[in-house]
Amino acid sequence: DPEMVAKGEKVFKKCKACHQVGEGAKNRTGPVLNGVFGRTAGMVDGFKYSKVMAAAADDGLVWDHETLSAYLENPKAYLPKNKMSFAGLKKEEDRAAVIAYLRSFD
Ligand code: HEM
Repeated sequence: DPEMVAKGEKVFKKCKACHQVGEGAKNRTGPVLNGVFGRTAGMVDGFKYSKVMAAAADDGLVWDHETLSAYLENPKAYLPKNKMSFAGLKKEEDRAAVIAYLRSFD
Protein backbone atom coordinates (compact mmCIF):
# COMPACT_ATOMS: atom_id res chain seq x y z
CA ASP A 1 0.00 0.00 0.00
CA PRO A 2 1.87 3.12 -1.22
CA GLU A 3 0.03 5.40 1.23
CA MET A 4 1.18 3.31 4.18
CA VAL A 5 4.74 3.36 2.85
CA ALA A 6 4.58 7.17 2.52
CA LYS A 7 3.25 7.51 6.06
CA GLY A 8 5.94 5.12 7.24
CA GLU A 9 8.62 7.26 5.66
CA LYS A 10 7.46 10.13 7.89
CA VAL A 11 7.40 7.94 10.98
CA PHE A 12 10.91 6.74 10.12
CA LYS A 13 12.22 10.27 10.82
CA LYS A 14 12.16 9.14 14.47
CA CYS A 15 14.51 6.29 13.63
CA LYS A 16 16.94 8.16 11.39
CA ALA A 17 19.08 9.44 14.25
CA CYS A 18 20.30 5.85 14.56
CA HIS A 19 19.26 3.82 11.50
CA GLN A 20 19.78 4.03 7.75
CA VAL A 21 17.89 2.24 4.97
CA GLY A 22 18.22 2.12 1.20
CA GLU A 23 21.14 2.01 -1.18
CA GLY A 24 24.43 2.84 0.49
CA ALA A 25 22.99 2.55 4.00
CA LYS A 26 25.58 2.10 6.73
CA ASN A 27 25.51 0.93 10.31
CA ARG A 28 25.44 3.86 12.73
CA THR A 29 24.27 3.77 16.34
CA GLY A 30 21.80 1.15 15.10
CA PRO A 31 22.14 -1.48 12.36
CA VAL A 32 21.16 -0.98 8.72
CA LEU A 33 17.51 -2.01 8.40
CA ASN A 34 17.42 -3.18 4.75
CA GLY A 35 15.83 -6.62 4.55
CA VAL A 36 15.06 -6.80 8.25
CA PHE A 37 11.45 -7.94 7.72
CA GLY A 38 11.32 -11.74 7.65
CA ARG A 39 14.89 -12.13 8.89
CA THR A 40 16.28 -13.50 12.15
CA ALA A 41 17.18 -10.73 14.62
CA GLY A 42 20.76 -9.65 15.09
CA MET A 43 22.12 -10.59 11.66
CA VAL A 44 23.62 -7.42 10.17
CA ASP A 45 27.30 -7.91 9.38
CA GLY A 46 29.64 -5.64 11.26
CA PHE A 47 27.09 -4.45 13.82
CA LYS A 48 27.78 -5.22 17.46
CA TYR A 49 24.44 -6.17 19.01
CA SER A 50 23.73 -6.35 22.72
CA LYS A 51 24.01 -9.70 24.48
CA VAL A 52 20.23 -9.93 24.82
CA MET A 53 19.65 -9.29 21.11
CA ALA A 54 22.27 -11.90 20.22
CA ALA A 55 20.63 -14.35 22.65
CA ALA A 56 17.17 -13.66 21.19
CA ALA A 57 18.60 -14.34 17.75
CA ASP A 58 20.05 -17.66 18.97
CA ASP A 59 16.61 -18.48 20.38
CA GLY A 60 15.14 -17.96 16.91
CA LEU A 61 13.56 -14.50 17.10
CA VAL A 62 12.41 -13.58 13.60
CA TRP A 63 11.20 -10.08 12.69
CA ASP A 64 7.68 -10.52 11.36
CA HIS A 65 4.77 -8.13 11.75
CA GLU A 66 3.91 -9.33 15.25
CA THR A 67 7.44 -9.32 16.68
CA LEU A 68 8.45 -6.02 15.07
CA SER A 69 5.27 -4.34 16.25
CA ALA A 70 5.78 -5.57 19.81
CA TYR A 71 9.45 -4.50 19.84
CA LEU A 72 8.72 -1.07 18.36
CA GLU A 73 5.85 -0.42 20.75
CA ASN A 74 8.12 -0.75 23.77
CA PRO A 75 11.66 -1.89 23.01
CA LYS A 76 12.79 -2.16 26.61
CA ALA A 77 9.74 -4.12 27.72
CA TYR A 78 9.96 -6.52 24.78
CA LEU A 79 13.66 -7.24 25.18
CA PRO A 80 14.95 -6.02 28.55
CA LYS A 81 18.53 -4.67 28.34
CA ASN A 82 18.55 -4.43 24.58
CA LYS A 83 20.49 -1.32 23.59
CA MET A 84 17.98 0.53 21.40
CA SER A 85 17.38 3.76 23.34
CA PHE A 86 13.99 4.55 21.92
CA ALA A 87 10.77 5.14 23.85
CA GLY A 88 8.67 3.33 21.28
CA LEU A 89 5.80 4.01 18.90
CA LYS A 90 2.63 3.99 20.96
CA LYS A 91 0.21 4.20 18.03
CA GLU A 92 -0.57 0.94 16.27
CA GLU A 93 -0.99 2.82 12.98
CA ASP A 94 2.51 4.32 13.28
CA ARG A 95 3.99 0.88 13.86
CA ALA A 96 2.11 -0.60 10.91
CA ALA A 97 3.22 2.29 8.70
CA VAL A 98 6.90 2.08 9.62
CA ILE A 99 6.81 -1.70 9.12
CA ALA A 100 5.30 -1.17 5.64
CA TYR A 101 8.12 1.32 4.96
CA LEU A 102 10.80 -1.15 6.13
CA ARG A 103 9.25 -3.85 3.93
CA SER A 104 9.81 -1.63 0.90
CA PHE A 105 13.60 -2.12 1.35
CA ASP A 106 14.91 -5.57 0.56
C1 HEM B 1 17.84 -2.37 16.68
C2 HEM B 1 14.04 -0.58 14.27
C3 HEM B 1 14.72 3.71 16.46
C4 HEM B 1 19.05 2.16 17.96
C5 HEM B 1 16.72 -2.28 15.89
C6 HEM B 1 16.10 -3.37 15.18
C7 HEM B 1 15.04 -2.86 14.50
C8 HEM B 1 14.97 -1.45 14.79
C9 HEM B 1 14.08 -3.63 13.61
C10 HEM B 1 16.59 -4.81 15.18
C11 HEM B 1 17.57 -4.95 14.00
C12 HEM B 1 18.16 -6.33 13.80
O1 HEM B 1 17.77 -7.29 14.46
O2 HEM B 1 19.05 -6.42 12.93
C13 HEM B 1 13.90 0.75 14.65
C14 HEM B 1 12.82 1.63 14.19
C15 HEM B 1 12.96 2.80 14.87
C16 HEM B 1 14.17 2.70 15.67
C17 HEM B 1 11.77 1.23 13.16
C18 HEM B 1 12.05 4.01 14.86
C19 HEM B 1 10.69 3.83 14.96
C20 HEM B 1 15.99 3.69 17.01
C21 HEM B 1 16.64 4.82 17.64
C22 HEM B 1 17.86 4.38 18.08
C23 HEM B 1 17.96 2.98 17.71
C24 HEM B 1 16.06 6.23 17.74
C25 HEM B 1 18.97 5.12 18.80
C26 HEM B 1 18.68 6.04 19.78
C27 HEM B 1 19.08 0.79 17.80
C28 HEM B 1 20.13 -0.07 18.33
C29 HEM B 1 19.75 -1.38 17.98
C30 HEM B 1 18.51 -1.30 17.23
C31 HEM B 1 21.37 0.36 19.10
C32 HEM B 1 20.49 -2.67 18.38
C33 HEM B 1 19.83 -3.18 19.67
C34 HEM B 1 20.60 -4.27 20.39
O3 HEM B 1 21.57 -4.82 19.86
O4 HEM B 1 20.21 -4.54 21.54
N1 HEM B 1 16.00 -1.13 15.63
N2 HEM B 1 14.69 1.44 15.51
N3 HEM B 1 16.81 2.60 17.07
N4 HEM B 1 18.14 0.02 17.17
FE1 HEM B 1 16.40 0.72 16.38
